[in-house]
Amino acid sequence: MYRVECVKIDTLVSGEMNCTDFKSKILRNLGKPAIVNVNIGTTVKGAIDDLDRIIKTLEKCGFRDRFYIHCDGALAGLMMPFIKQAPKVTFEKPIGSVSVSGHKFIGCPVPCGVVITRLDHVKVLSTDIEYLSSRDATIMGSRNGHAPMFLWYTLNKKGYIGIRKEVQKCLRNAHYLTDRLKDMGISAYLNALSSTVVFERPHDEAFVHKWQLACEGSIAHVVVMPNVNVEKLDDFVEELAAKRSSLHEGKGLSVPCVEKDIGLENCLCGQHNKKSRIA
Ligand SMILES: Cc1ncc(COP(=O)(O)O)c(C=O)c1O
Repeated sequence: MYRVECVKIDTLVSGEMNCTDFKSKILRNLGKPAIVNVNIGTTVKGAIDDLDRIIKTLEKCGFRDRFYIHCDGALAGLMMPFIKQAPKVTFEKPIGSVSVSGHKFIGCPVPCGVVITRLDHVKVLSTDIEYLSSRDATIMGSRNGHAPMFLWYTLNKKGYIGIRKEVQKCLRNAHYLTDRLKDMGISAYLNALSSTVVFERPHDEAFVHKWQLACEGSIAHVVVMPNVNVEKLDDFVEELAAKRSSLHEGKGLSVPCVEKDIGLENCLCGQHNKKSRIA
């Protein structure tokens, strides 16, 4: 929208920002300010960028007061406060804003989100809308009045303890799914503190369609949400394993290698895992 120059930063296999690449790219742009998007849970792998290291890198490279950090916590931003080991995303650190989606973890039935930013920025962005007799900071001046009510209702109904329980359940179930996939000889990966399970992309398109799997290149992911129980995960794994073995055994397809996507230690292809059941 703003047509600012955009520089892509490499990621590690986990999906997290590669801070070495970040440093080398900001050093190539010393004369300019930096707007940095820090992911608190990436879309595909649920990776969490190292906010503290990113801030230190900017300061060490001389950016000091010439950077703006936005923390994109679309899904995991609402989970992090309930996980003890999680990095702290707080305005005590030099960040400019944090955003979370309302229709992801909270499950709001309409797309919505919350952006929290510093009052100085709010003042610059918002204007008095005379006919609404209020201040507004949206691009078009239009807002959904139901969305904040849904958010308010859910947050109050579940409460701090209720949401913490759901977060713990999601993390536990994500570990369960990862272990079950691996036990079946299916390459899988789960980032620490994440409920997004990444695994080899199924060959069977009907299966992908039925389970509405989000795929990217050679991998697919399942985001384990609060409504998902162990029975559902068992059904998923068993159906996937059955489809997979009929394709691999019946049609002689080889188990795909996903080393570059999820790392050597998580890849169970024939070449990397001699014990692989199917290869
Ligand atoms: C990391 C990340 N940021 C932003 C978005 C988009 O969020 P929204 O649907 O609230 O616009 C997503 C959605 O998947 C996401 O994963």
